[in-house]
Amino acid sequence: MAVVMSEKAQIGLIGLGTMGANLSLNIAEKGFPIAVFNRTTSRTDDFHAGAGTLAEAITPCHTLEAFVAAIQSPRAIILMVPAGEAVDAQIDALLPLLNSDDLIIDAGNANFHETNRRAAAADARGAPYLGIGVSGGEEGARHGPAIMGGGKREAWNRVAPVLEAIAARYEDTPCATWLGESGTGHFVKTVHNGIEYADMQMIAEIYSIMHDGYGMTSSAIGDVFAQWNEGPLKSYLIEISAEVTRAADRETGRPVMDIILDRAGQKGTGRWTVIEAQQLGAAIPCIEAAVSARNLSAQLPDRKTGEALFGPSLRPFGDGNPDIGMLERALIAGKILCYAQGFSLLKAAAKAYEWDLSLPDVARVWRAGCIIRSTMLNDMAAAFTTDPDTNLMFAETFSPILKENEPQLRDVVLKATGAGIPLPALASAQFYFDMMRTGRSSANMIQAQRDFFGAHSFERVDQPGSHHGPWNSGV
Ligand code: 6PG
Repeated sequence: MAVVMSEKAQIGLIGLGTMGANLSLNIAEKGFPIAVFNRTTSRTDDFHAGAGTLAEAITPCHTLEAFVAAIQSPRAIILMVPAGEAVDAQIDALLPLLNSDDLIIDAGNANFHETNRRAAAADARGAPYLGIGVSGGEEGARHGPAIMGGGKREAWNRVAPVLEAIAARYEDTPCATWLGESGTGHFVKTVHNGIEYADMQMIAEIYSIMHDGYGMTSSAIGDVFAQWNEGPLKSYLIEISAEVTRAADRETGRPVMDIILDRAGQKGTGRWTVIEAQQLGAAIPCIEAAVSARNLSAQLPDRKTGEALFGPSLRPFGDGNPDIGMLERALIAGKILCYAQGFSLLKAAAKAYEWDLSLPDVARVWRAGCIIRSTMLNDMAAAFTTDPDTNLMFAETFSPILKENEPQLRDVVLKATGAGIPLPALASAQFYFDMMRTGRSSANMIQAQRDFFGAHSFERVDQPGSHHGPWNSGV
C-alpha cells in the first residue's frame, strides 16, 4: 500500500539497508520527493516511521507496482541492493513494469564487468542505465557521499541535479562526477576501494610499530594520529584511526584496540582491484600486499601455530626509542607511492578499454565524501591537471616530497624487517619505488632464462630485432 501523495516522487530507491536508507533520507532532505521499496515490508514501514520530518517527502511502497506508479515519468530508480545476483533479480522484476525511457541506476558496489553487461543489455532494449560508485559509508550516504558516475552522459545529465545536491562538496564543487561510459564509474569505485585497503593497511602497519615496536599505549598512539591529522597526512582514515585508538571498551574499560580480534573482513572490492590490475598487466604491489595481508589475517590458527613453532621475533625496532617523525614521513612516502599505483591502474584501464577517463576528475571527486578523502588528493588533482599522463611519483609537486620522505620509508622498512614486524604494504611501496627508479633491472636474467628453456628470444641493448642466446639451441 502506497501512501497517497498529491505529487509523485521525483525519484525512487529500492533497498533500505544502511546505505539505501541513509541515501533516501539525504535525497528527501535535499528537497526531492522519493518513493522507497524494500523486499521486507516491515523494514519499509520502520524506515518511514523513523524518518521524522522527512517522512512527508518519502512515499513508502509495499509492492513494486505501487512503487513504480509513485514515481513521475520518465522514472529514475536507484538500486541499493547487494552486488551480484540480487541486482539482476531486481532488474528482472522491474522491467515488466517500466517504460523504455525509465532509468535504472545501480548504486551498489558492483563489479564493473557486470555493469558493462547490464548497460549493454539496457542499450539493446533502448533503455538508459547508470552504474554509480557511492563512497562514504553510512555517514557519507546520509550527509554527502562521493559519487563516481558511469553510463551514457545523457542519462547522467537527467539525474545530475539530484546526485550533485546529495553529494559531498569540496569547497563549492560537488563530488559527483560522470567519469565515462557503462562500467567506468564502478571501475573507479573498485580502484577507490583498492586504494582504501592499502591506505588502511599502511596505517595499521605504522600502528603496529608504535604499539609493538615502541610499546606505546593506545591513547598515546591516538594522540600521534590526531597530530598527524593536522599536517600533510590529513585525511578521513587518519582521523578515524585517532578516534579508534583513543576509544575505551565500554565493558572492560580497556583500550578498544586491545579487545578487537585481529582478523580482517573483506567484501571483495580490494580483491577485484588486484584481479583487474593483473588482467591489465598493471603493477599495484601496495594494494596486492594489503589484500594478501587481509587474507593472512584470516588465517588465525595457522599464525598461532607459526608463533608457537618459531617464536615471536624478540629483536627491538631500531634502538627502541620512538621516532615519530620518521614514521610520519614513511607514511607520507608510502601514501604517494600507493596512489601512484592506483592512478596508474586507472590509466591502464582507460587505455585498454578506450575510456576517455580524466584522472584530474577522479582525483577531484575523491577530495570529499569518500573514505579515502584527504588533503593530498587536492594536490593530486592539481598534479594531474598539469600533466594528465604523469605517474604521480614523477609529478612536479610529488617527486620532491618523495625524495624528502623516501629515506624514512626505507629506514622504517629496514628496522621493521630487523624486528620481525611485518610491513607488507609499506615494504611493497618501497619495492615499487626501487623498481621505478632502476634504469636497468634484473629482467635481463628473466629474458635469458626464458630464451634458454623456451627459445622465447630477447631484445638486445645494442641492436634492434629479436635474438637468441648462444646456448643449447645452437643459434
Ligand atoms: C566506501 C567503502 C564501502 C565499504 C566497502 C569496503 O567507499 O564507502 O569502500 O564501499 O566499506 O564495502 O568493505 P570491505 O572492507 O568489506 O571490502
